[in-house]
Amino acid sequence: MGQDLMRVMASTYGDRDLVWSVKDTFIRYIGSLPDGTLTPLNGAEPFSTAGGPEWRFPYVGQSADDDELTLRYQGELRISGHNGMLLVILMDPWLTFTATETQLSVVELMSWPDTSVREVIATGPACSDGYMDAAGQGFPLGLTATAVELFNNVYAAGTPLGPARLVPPVV
Ligand code: HEM
Repeated sequence: MGQDLMRVMASTYGDRDLVWSVKDTFIRYIGSLPDGTLTPLNGAEPFSTAGGPEWRFPYVGQSADDDELTLRYQGELRISGHNGMLLVILMDPWLTFTATETQLSVVELMSWPDTSVREVIATGPACSDGYMDAAGQGFPLGLTATAVELFNNVYAAGTPLGPARLVPPVV
């Protein structure tokens, strides 16, 4: 990603919060379970619109190097059901824009309590001078091969997840 585009991205999107629906059908499935729960923690909050449930993760900072920009958000969405057999924890999502793709990563919980290890769970097209979420629809994302297990191998790699939307913070 060129320096100019990175600067534009950093100033356009720095300060905005991440709003994410995860995946509509998965969230509906959890809602259909007798003991399904969707619990936002540590700064994450429900962000419901007519489009369906989403969660807001507050912006906490950014970092850039030669050719990539990372926007960091804080908070956790804990999803459970089936008497604890189903547990998906999405913690501290970050968006990284590289020259070749857009990545959504979360804390890799296998390394807990070391929260410095991250896993890229979804990727989408790279931003370019001509494409920077101009329509405000969010950055499209598809499940990575390494994250297929996160959803019990139900969704194939590449399955579309909810887009990463960046919205002005609540004042
Ligand atoms: C106790 C064990 C489980 C049982 C009996 C079970 C049962 C089911 C059933 C019956 C469906 C189809 C629901 C429908 O089409 O309406 C389903 C879908 C699904 N299950 Fe489970 N499940 C179990 C554990 C898990 C676990 C541990 C996960 C991990 C995240 C999981 C993730 C999913 C997903 C992602 C779908 C697809 C939802 C969608 O997009 O439509 N399940 N499960």
